[in-house]
Amino acid sequence: MFTDKSTQLLYPKEEVPGHDVDDITQTNLFNVMLNRRSQRKFQNKEVEEWKLDMIFAAADTAPTAGGFQGFEIYHIKNEGSRKRLVEAANNQPYVNAPAVLVFCMNPKRVKLNFTSETIIKFSQQDATLAAAYSQLAAHALGLSSIWIGMFDEKKIMEILGTDLSPSSILCLGYPVKMLLPKPKRNLKDLIHEI
Ligand SMILES: Cc1cc2nc3c(=O)[nH]c(=O)nc-3n(C[C@H](O)[C@H](O)[C@H](O)COP(=O)(O)O)c2cc1C
Repeated sequence: MFTDKSTQLLYPKEEVPGHDVDDITQTNLFNVMLNRRSQRKFQNKEVEEWKLDMIFAAADTAPTAGGFQGFEIYHIKNEGSRKRLVEAANNQPYVNAPAVLVFCMNPKRVKLNFTSETIIKFSQQDATLAAAYSQLAAHALGLSSIWIGMFDEKKIMEILGTDLSPSSILCLGYPVKMLLPKPKRNLKDLIHEI
C-alpha cells in the first residue's frame, strides 16, 4: 500500500472488487522488470482510476535531485487533446491510448544553488525517473505501455497549456496480447570495469 503524506490516504483509495491489492503490491520487482515489454496495441478498455492512483503514487516514490520533485505529470483525459498529441508526436497513432501521461520537467521546483544548466539537467532526470517508475508500476498492475520520446516539444506545451518542457509521454492500456521481452545485448558488453 502507498500512503499519501499530505492526506494520509492509502492507495488505492477505494475498495477494489475482485482484486487482492496486497497481492499486486507484493509483486516481485525482478519479475516485473524482466517481463515488461513495450506495447503499441491496446484494448478499447479504460484503465481503472485506482490503478492510475497507484501509478501516480509509484511515480512519487522515485528519487529526485535534492528531494525537490522537479517534475509534473499531466494526465490527458480529454479525447481531443489526446488526438492532438498524436499529431505532435510525429503522428504515432498509439499515442491516443486509454491512459496518457505526459511527464514534464519543472526546474523551478529544484531549489539548489547550481547553474541553471545543472538544474535543468536535474529536472530532466527527475521527470525521466518518475516516468520509469510509473512504467514499471503499470506493468505490475497488469497494464502495458509505450514510452514516447519522439515529439515536438513546443506543440506538446501548447496542447498542455504549460511553459514546462515535456520529457516523455507514457501511453498505457490493457494489451491486446502479452508480448515476450525483447532480446537484449549480452550483459558483459554493457558493463565497463575500469
Ligand atoms: C527515450 C526513449 C524514447 C522512445 N521513444 C519512442 C517513440 O517515440 N515511439 C515509440 O514507438 N517507442 C519509443 N520508445 C520505446 C522503445 O522503442 C522501446 O522501449 C524499445 O524498442 C525496447 O523495447 P522494450 O521496451 O519492449 O524493451 C522509446 C523508448 C525510450 C526509452
